[in-house]
Amino acid sequence: MDAYLAVVSKREVREYEPRPVPEDILRRILEAARATGSSKNSQPWRFIVLRDPARRRALGAFMRSSHNLDRCTAAIAIVLLNDVQRFDAGRVAQNLMVAAWALGIGSCPNSVHPDHVDEARALLAVPAGASIATVISLGYPARGQPRPRTKADPEKVRKRIDRLPLEQLASDERFSG
Ligand SMILES: Cc1cc2nc3c(=O)[nH]c(=O)nc-3n(C[C@H](O)[C@H](O)[C@H](O)COP(=O)(O)O)c2cc1C
Repeated sequence: MDAYLAVVSKREVREYEPRPVPEDILRRILEAARATGSSKNSQPWRFIVLRDPARRRALGAFMRSSHNLDRCTAAIAIVLLNDVQRFDAGRVAQNLMVAAWALGIGSCPNSVHPDHVDEARALLAVPAGASIATVISLGYPARGQPRPRTKADPEKVRKRIDRLPLEQLASDERFSG
């Protein structure tokens, strides 16, 4: 899929087909995440691949909502190794999701519930000083969910998206709210 189309057409997917994500696709998704740039090339992340449904369900209990982790067929927790490089964590998460989309796989970021941070870290054996930046649920989109289309017209896709108008978001030379 064209990179511009992948970026503008990527929507979150919250219901998934039971068909598993093939291992070679999972690997390509992880390789795309690995390629992400970071401050001073510090790569302050690690990726935990969650293939075991029981473990995903257990983790779901510590998330803001368990729905996506209960229904997906794989998930990847992005662990941030320090408390400061949150921008880098966002970059790697979005790269991973857009790459997955381009490979036909739907995804959604999921936040750990603030009251259950320690339990989630303990479940995944995340070391002291590191945190779970997000958990990305993955899978083939179920019927009725957004799905990646290689042939879509990016201009038409762009017009349909539920986002603030560009005039409100971008300004010349100085801030304009
Ligand atoms: C930091 C962050 C946390 C999010 N957490 C969740 C979540 O816990 N559960 C969920 O279903 N979606 C979550 N989302 C997805 C947002 O709801 C979604 O990106 C937004 O509504 C746009 O969706 P769309 O691209 O399908 O229009 C999260 C997104 C971000 C950026």
